[in-house]
Amino acid sequence: MCGIVGYVGHRPALDVVLGGLRRMEYRGYDSAGVAVLDGAGALTVERKAGRLANLEGRLDEVGREHFGGTAGMGHTRWATHGAPIDRNSHPHRDASQRVAVVHNGIIENFAALRAELEADGVEMASDTDTETAAHLVARAYTEGDTKGDLTASVAAVCRRLEGAFTLVVTHADHPDTIVAARRSSPLVVGVGDGEHFVASDVAAFIEHTREAVELGQDQLVVITREGYEVLDFHGDAAQAKPFTVDWDLSAAEKGGHEYFMLKEIEEQPEALANTLRGHFESGRIILDEQRISDQDLRDVDKVFVVACGSAYHSGLVAKYAIEHWTRLPVEVELASEFRYRDPVLDRDTLVVAVSQSGETADTLEAVRHAREQKARVLAVCNTNGAQIPRESDAVLYTHAGPEIGVASTKAFLAQIAANYLVGLALAQARGTKYPDEVAREFAELEAMPAAVQKVLSTVEQVRDLGRRIADSKAVLFLGRHVGFPVALEGALKLKELAYMHAEGFAAGELKHGPIALIEDGLPVVVVMPSPKGRAVLHSKLVSNISEIQARGARTIVIAEEGDETVRPFADELIEVPAVPTLLQPLVSTVPLQVLAAEIARTRGYDVDKPRNLAKSVTVE
Ligand code: M6R
Repeated sequence: MCGIVGYVGHRPALDVVLGGLRRMEYRGYDSAGVAVLDGAGALTVERKAGRLANLEGRLDEVGREHFGGTAGMGHTRWATHGAPIDRNSHPHRDASQRVAVVHNGIIENFAALRAELEADGVEMASDTDTETAAHLVARAYTEGDTKGDLTASVAAVCRRLEGAFTLVVTHADHPDTIVAARRSSPLVVGVGDGEHFVASDVAAFIEHTREAVELGQDQLVVITREGYEVLDFHGDAAQAKPFTVDWDLSAAEKGGHEYFMLKEIEEQPEALANTLRGHFESGRIILDEQRISDQDLRDVDKVFVVACGSAYHSGLVAKYAIEHWTRLPVEVELASEFRYRDPVLDRDTLVVAVSQSGETADTLEAVRHAREQKARVLAVCNTNGAQIPRESDAVLYTHAGPEIGVASTKAFLAQIAANYLVGLALAQARGTKYPDEVAREFAELEAMPAAVQKVLSTVEQVRDLGRRIADSKAVLFLGRHVGFPVALEGALKLKELAYMHAEGFAAGELKHGPIALIEDGLPVVVVMPSPKGRAVLHSKLVSNISEIQARGARTIVIAEEGDETVRPFADELIEVPAVPTLLQPLVSTVPLQVLAAEIARTRGYDVDKPRNLAKSVTVE
């Protein structure tokens, strides 16, 4: 959702800010804007609904020479309060036009604040919650104890705001300073040589510096050319955590690929290998920041996995493995439902919160609820220092690298691998697996990057199929056991990328209703289990395929290499390498990602930026 960048340094701020906004386009947005301080007391703002290209066109019209300073900020907005039109786009200014504010999140008490300002005679120029912050900062800056002190004014306003927010504020009186604040919304500081940045994520400044600082909850940072200072909302000095970004610019660029998503599909073997690296040493599974002791893991009597979207599907896959390895009951729950149904939680419950971004509001609220109920929370996350790992008891980072395409691909595979590590760590601590069994399971996981690489070398057939079925009205996906979440993931990919009706079903459920959907020529993708590993399920699924084929469906079967039994029932057969049953999702998901991307491309859609979607969903 909203992307924020602020800069004070020695380069032309407009170029830095637009470059940062471009790298954050993946977050999803519907309007954009910039503000530049020219050093001589002018604060110049331009905003435009639609893509960044619209804003750039507007900047060319008015003349970029009017934006000639070395301090500035920019914003990509994903509308919450007010339609995505020019006047609701950020930055917002106060009546004197000396203060400019960009904002991510929701100011929950904005109606009361707005009423207060209007009663004071302030005329609002937009329908947004953000504008209230601009007027409040301007008021604090001109009155009382905070008069003339921009930092104290921002802190005073932050103390009054309710909800989750990142705010970045500039004032024409302070052309070399940017003040930024955060509560439950992302904000990182980039530390360069004679230049400093603030941004929603490190992608915005990665081409300039890899040195970053992670701000804590309710912290405020003042950046200048020379340095940065971190304070709390009362103006007292506060500690923030420096870190070095472990990927570079090339990871955030397309590297010759038409779309980020296609690059990220190809990066999956590396993402898996990086996620597993360093987690098995001296015969033991090691988690990253394991602030949960082995004794606590032994005391666990129930596991919940909470997540959204693809991350939720990774949890569904994990359930099969964790229950099998540990004999603990595992419930997998959509994070958006979790806290509203009063789940039974106590200090012996382990809640695994899975999130690529670590920012997803639904998952964050589920984490908070679980912790309030005294459950232990372990985050599986791809983003260093994001809010969900910060608020969890322990963290296992996936090392998939930045995922720019909105549709999750490499992060999903990395989540499955990381969830399996959690399962093995539990089995190890509880003694439900002998050390040599844990070692064998880990060795099988370690063989998966090569297996995924093999799938990638054969996907031309899938692309061709995608082009042939791109004009279908709908596609169904069926699976059993771990193939069921793979079917759900295949359907989600197709919905979000190709805007096509797609449903995933447990194949056994077909006869209880969905079989009524089968009609002549309807493509039905079936994810087959191994004929050796799961012989009984395999033969049941063969029966399911023959039932739908008899009713005219066009069967597209993902099956293990050499699975001859299924061949007569497959109108299209896509073979994947033989791997242990529990690891099958790591290979069988890949053709479904490629299929969805190819159908979307054939239909002429932007695979990286599907309509209406945001990469990080920071509102509930
Ligand atoms: O960042 P998260 O993993 O918490 O995101 C969860 C979902 O929003 C995400 O997986 C979404 O479903 C993807 N677009 C799926 O491709």
